[in-house]
Amino acid sequence: MSPVCYPDADMLLPVDDVGDPMAEKVTIVGTGYVGLVTGVCLARSGHDVTCVDVDTDKVAALSSGQPTIYEPGIAELLAEGLENGRLRFLTIEPGWRELVSDITIIAVGTPMAENGAADLSHVRSVVEGVCAEADRPFTLVMKSTVPPGTGSVLQERYLDGAGCAISYVSNPEFLREGHAIRDWFATDRIVLGSDDPDAIAAMQRLYADIDAPVVVTDVASAETIKYASNAFLSTKISFINEIANVCDAVGADVDAVASGVGLDERIGPQFLRAGIGYGGSCFPKDTRALDFISTLNGYQFTLLKSVIDVNNRQRILPVIHLARALPDLHTRTVAVLGLAFKPDTDDTRESPALDIIPLLLEEGAGVTAYDPLAGELDLGDGTRQVATVWEALEGASAAIVVTEWPEFINLDWARVRMHMADPAIIFDGRNCLDRAAIEDSGLTYMAVGRPGAHRTDGGA
Ligand code: UGA
Repeated sequence: MSPVCYPDADMLLPVDDVGDPMAEKVTIVGTGYVGLVTGVCLARSGHDVTCVDVDTDKVAALSSGQPTIYEPGIAELLAEGLENGRLRFLTIEPGWRELVSDITIIAVGTPMAENGAADLSHVRSVVEGVCAEADRPFTLVMKSTVPPGTGSVLQERYLDGAGCAISYVSNPEFLREGHAIRDWFATDRIVLGSDDPDAIAAMQRLYADIDAPVVVTDVASAETIKYASNAFLSTKISFINEIANVCDAVGADVDAVASGVGLDERIGPQFLRAGIGYGGSCFPKDTRALDFISTLNGYQFTLLKSVIDVNNRQRILPVIHLARALPDLHTRTVAVLGLAFKPDTDDTRESPALDIIPLLLEEGAGVTAYDPLAGELDLGDGTRQVATVWEALEGASAAIVVTEWPEFINLDWARVRMHMADPAIIFDGRNCLDRAAIEDSGLTYMAVGRPGAHRTDGGA
């Protein structure tokens, strides 16, 4: 561990003093994405982990070694933890008095409410239950993504009046779906927000085997680090998408521009892939929640509002361009390739496909949809979700690549041409395809910020 200390150097223990990393007893409340990854990884590190969930089916599946999410490596760590006895799954049946451990981590969902705010009802109900029932001191760790200011409200409302001393730590996660296990063990940083040095020390012992800088700060700052990180990454994406649209206008190539810009070490090459914008369960939700909390506190976060607007517009670009290219779109079939919000996951939450498909249906087009991993979805009357990419392409006048799955990147384009109807448009929503190979096969290529690709705009 190479600790970075902020703001108070005395709050960090020297690495040699952090103690035995195998010693901690941990309870994790919530076995969704974050909770399950946290559970299996802490068990892998040697801790004694109890995962708790209200969903009895989930608890049964996980107890029998059946992962409830798709994530590379999770099945193996789950099996290992169950077998060596370091990991168990329970319902809340025994009651919080029985279930809380010295370190109790909350990892329940904070979905987006109608008004854009984070819905904290699950978090509140767990904290309330735990604080009301627990009868011995422990550390309560918030891993759920909660807006800045939440920790102090929870402490005031529930922890301060509890019958035992409860220390509060904000410990946000920075896991990417599809890379979560790797991100856990090779994280860029560990963020610990608390006003209790003993709780910080306990958390350092928990993470003693992870070699990463540790940022120690107050609760509100730790909460803000999480939102600022996701908002900044979203800003990078919307920024390069704005540049892509300028590239379209002036005949520049956004891929070359992103490479040139990304070589500046102060900017960096990551999150500069232009396309139809960000999706998933985090960026859309967290940017909206940060905007909401800013407004609620009397501040207009203008830049963030633009980031959100740009992303909303970006995801419907394929439909705008197809409607221009195919005035008789209502007589055509369009293949939507990719329903997951990114490759290596079956997660379709806030996927651009879920905005694109209803718009195509509204235009009167028929839609075929295919994803290698996402399960069956309700995509509306007029959409046929099929089992292979070839079924999706059969008779389609256009195909929109929404997700950059390797299966789409490596398609045999000559074969694609044979399956598709004229004018056989491929809209490359992720700028991930080989344009020359596509055009050489007699297909029409469209993309975002690749010069001449929008032929309907009068491009080259
Ligand atoms: C994101 C963050 O990357 C994690 O650090 C964070 O912990 C997580 O949210 C969270 O808050 O829990 P994730 O949503 O799994 O992780 O996905 P990313 O890989 O970050 O991609 C998000 C979206 O941005 C995807 O739709 C992706 O296609 C899009 N994207 C990403 C771009 O459009 N361009 C890029 O250059 C990069």
